[in-house]
Amino acid sequence: MMPWMRKITAFVFSAMLFFQGGGMLHVNMEKTVDGEAFPPGARWLDTDGNLIQAHGGQVQVMPVPDGNGGKKDCYVWIGENKTSGHLGNAVAVYTSEDLYHWTCHGDVLRPLSDVAQIDTDPYFAALYGELNAAERQHVRECIGTDMVIERPKMLYNAKNDNYVIWFHNDGPTEKNSYYYDIGMAGCAVSDSPFGPFRFVDRYRLSECPDGQIDCYPFSRGEARDMNLFLDEDGTGYIVYTSENNKTLYISRLNEDFTGLSGSEYGVDYIRIFPGAMREAPVLLRENGRYYLLSSSTTGWASNQARVWSSDAIFGKWRNDGNPCRGRGASVTFDTQSTTVFQAPNGSWIYGGDRWNAENLIDSRYVWLPVRFEDGRMSIEWRESWKWEN
Ligand code: DGJ
Repeated sequence: MMPWMRKITAFVFSAMLFFQGGGMLHVNMEKTVDGEAFPPGARWLDTDGNLIQAHGGQVQVMPVPDGNGGKKDCYVWIGENKTSGHLGNAVAVYTSEDLYHWTCHGDVLRPLSDVAQIDTDPYFAALYGELNAAERQHVRECIGTDMVIERPKMLYNAKNDNYVIWFHNDGPTEKNSYYYDIGMAGCAVSDSPFGPFRFVDRYRLSECPDGQIDCYPFSRGEARDMNLFLDEDGTGYIVYTSENNKTLYISRLNEDFTGLSGSEYGVDYIRIFPGAMREAPVLLRENGRYYLLSSSTTGWASNQARVWSSDAIFGKWRNDGNPCRGRGASVTFDTQSTTVFQAPNGSWIYGGDRWNAENLIDSRYVWLPVRFEDGRMSIEWRESWKWEN
């Protein structure tokens, strides 16, 4: 979508939000999460007292170093550090035991402003010092401080005992100065969830197969808003918006989680809801059923969520409509989906971004309870709540 179209849609959706009483959703904007409950949209500080910078992120339990040479399971929150604004976001990681208090582990994947940093900065020298000049230039072109680095997600790879990040990597092309023209998925790897992550490369992903109608045949294999999902059998999946944000894809990852498993339609990937224009996908599994939550495509402005469900990832997906209930349900409580995960007691939590387009660093997090009943998922509005209840 062109920038002027984004402005118009943002205006239309803000007006929608206003007329639907969405202003009432902003009850907590002046509050701070106090470590006892989740007041959706409140300021959330880490254990050092700094605003948590993990936007477009993912919360999950995964093994992390325990400080004694072993590993322990812990909640890990990965996301965009929006300190740099729209472009060149570093990827930050936080951990928590109780979901209320989060310890910052800093920027685990850092962008470069200049290829010379690989010689002058020991951090980049250790990661990219062995690359030749062209390869160094490529790293700078992909994860430069002037590039889009959004929606980072992480998987623990048990086979290799390492950690793999995928993220939406974008930027302008020679043909188009718009910052979302490259449309690729970037990949980075580390032995620790706390980094440093080494950028591997960025890729176009699965393509519309012959015999199906490609909604954007001019630019095949695009990957923008994305998420990762680890199934119970250890298989990793990447779910992403493609075909100029018109069609969602789910592709199986290879055993290292650093690429796709193959290119056979229905075996290695599936194309879902062609033309539905969905982004911000979240894939999860509850009680043997898969759920795919997503937003519409209106830039930083909120819109209506939709969920599909299926008994198999590469099976038939059923449109279950808008899962949101209560005040602000028609605009996802003025948020955009980014993660759904389980609390220690097994209950489910929705995590969404309430973007502040004028000041992205102050975008807020909205966490709300998720329920499953008869194979249907719902997300419920609360002014404040605790996962224990
Ligand atoms: C919507 C996406 O979901 C966000 O991650 C970001 O790319 C914005 N669009 C930019 O307008």
